[in-house]
Amino acid sequence: MSAVVVIGTQWGDEGKGKIVDYLAEKADVVVRYAGGSNAGHTVVVEGKEFKLHLLPSGILYPGKTCVVGNGVVVDPEILLQEIHRMQQEGIDTSSLLISNRAHVIMPYHRLLDALDEENRGEHKIGTTKRGIGPCYMDKNARIGIRMVDLLDAEEFSSKLARNLKEKNQLLQAVYGVEGFDYDTVRQEYLTYAEELRPYVTDTAAALHQAIGNGHKVLFEGAQATLLDLDHGTYPYVTSSHPIAGGACIGAGIGPSKIDKVIGVVKAYSTRVGEGPFPTELLDATGDHIRERGHEYGTTTGRPRRCGWLDACVVKYAGQLSGIDYMAITRLDILDELASIKLCVGYRYQGKLLNEMPASLKVLAQVEPVYEELPGWQQDISGIRKYEDLPPNAKRYLERLSEVTNIDLGIVSVGPGREQTIIMKTIF
Ligand code: GDP
Ligand code: IMO
Ligand code: MG
Repeated sequence: MSAVVVIGTQWGDEGKGKIVDYLAEKADVVVRYAGGSNAGHTVVVEGKEFKLHLLPSGILYPGKTCVVGNGVVVDPEILLQEIHRMQQEGIDTSSLLISNRAHVIMPYHRLLDALDEENRGEHKIGTTKRGIGPCYMDKNARIGIRMVDLLDAEEFSSKLARNLKEKNQLLQAVYGVEGFDYDTVRQEYLTYAEELRPYVTDTAAALHQAIGNGHKVLFEGAQATLLDLDHGTYPYVTSSHPIAGGACIGAGIGPSKIDKVIGVVKAYSTRVGEGPFPTELLDATGDHIRERGHEYGTTTGRPRRCGWLDACVVKYAGQLSGIDYMAITRLDILDELASIKLCVGYRYQGKLLNEMPASLKVLAQVEPVYEELPGWQQDISGIRKYEDLPPNAKRYLERLSEVTNIDLGIVSVGPGREQTIIMKTIF
């Protein structure tokens, strides 16, 4: 038995896709367990870039079972577009399994996401407008439509009719916009249903069987710790549970089945969307990181906010998910800097804090306590062994490991599969 969960430790876009793709070589099954097409995971294979929103990153290897778990909210249009794109690239998608319990994103979810954001004005969250929040709202309100319902035309029609009645009233009365036509939506979704039908199954049962047979299962986190609905910078979060515990609920496996948790840590911090970001750099260094790192959203194209690495955030992620090893990514983006700051604590009203503040007012006002370390100012993208890294790069990583009390497992020095330094055996 071997099950490994890979999660994001910061605000997303840490390079989870690259790490999952790398580890997937040795895995039998790769599973997405939370979020939806708000995720954008970029994987580079032999110089070719693949952007994945719903398909697990394991899809790029032949013969791996790829699972979209019950915790994922599935936009059928986007999923089918992705499947078609893969097929055009000659990638086999026949081993894809979609949970019959996964909830379906409907057109009114996408519209309500956009309208809610507009309504929030200066308090907007900065969502991806993919309908994620409204779909999870319906799931929690127990009115959602699941894949199993979508495949049953009678059940789907009845649920759609009930939902549309309520949503159209809401759209007209509160937002003053026209609602959706029942027949048009019904027809569109029943067409998707037929195309998705062969993939839909009880994925939790399939996973129990795989784990029981000793297969290696890799869980691919989406979003990240500080975007977790319970533990993140609420309300500037997503509506699901990206932390490792989310894999249990979102895939239907017990915690005792998880062997290892890998926390992906970008060598600096980024955030898209609104919300506090203690180490944000609003200066030339922030601009340098954004341009050198091409820090623009995969899903929305928005410029990402950039800042120094925050060890308080990584330590917090380590505790919430029980991270065994860190996978450090994008260390190469810092190659040109003469000195690098690492945030090792927060000071609030003159006192050092011991915990991640729950109050956003406090988090917005904390003063980061920095340690300044010398940069290495050399190209590390061709390095393949830890001992060959420049001493200042090792010093930076080892200090992070000391402050967070988490071991280094992987160091990534470029987007390619080969640009990976392995320090611990994961599978
Ligand atoms: P994810 O959402 O966590 O999967 O991350 P994204 O794919 O949104 O963003 C990470 C970006 O960094 C992608 O374009 C990756 O190809 C790229 N990437 C991953 N690891 C490295 C690395 O070590 N160095 C560089 N330069 N790029 C990397
Ligand atoms: P990956 O998997 C970065 C952010 C949005 C917004 C907040 C809520 O690529 O790391 P939502 O659309 O989920 O309701 O938006 O969460 N967000 C992400 N930021 N990477 C992601 O995914 C994200 N998914 C959502 O920008 O601030
Ligand atoms: Mg991303």
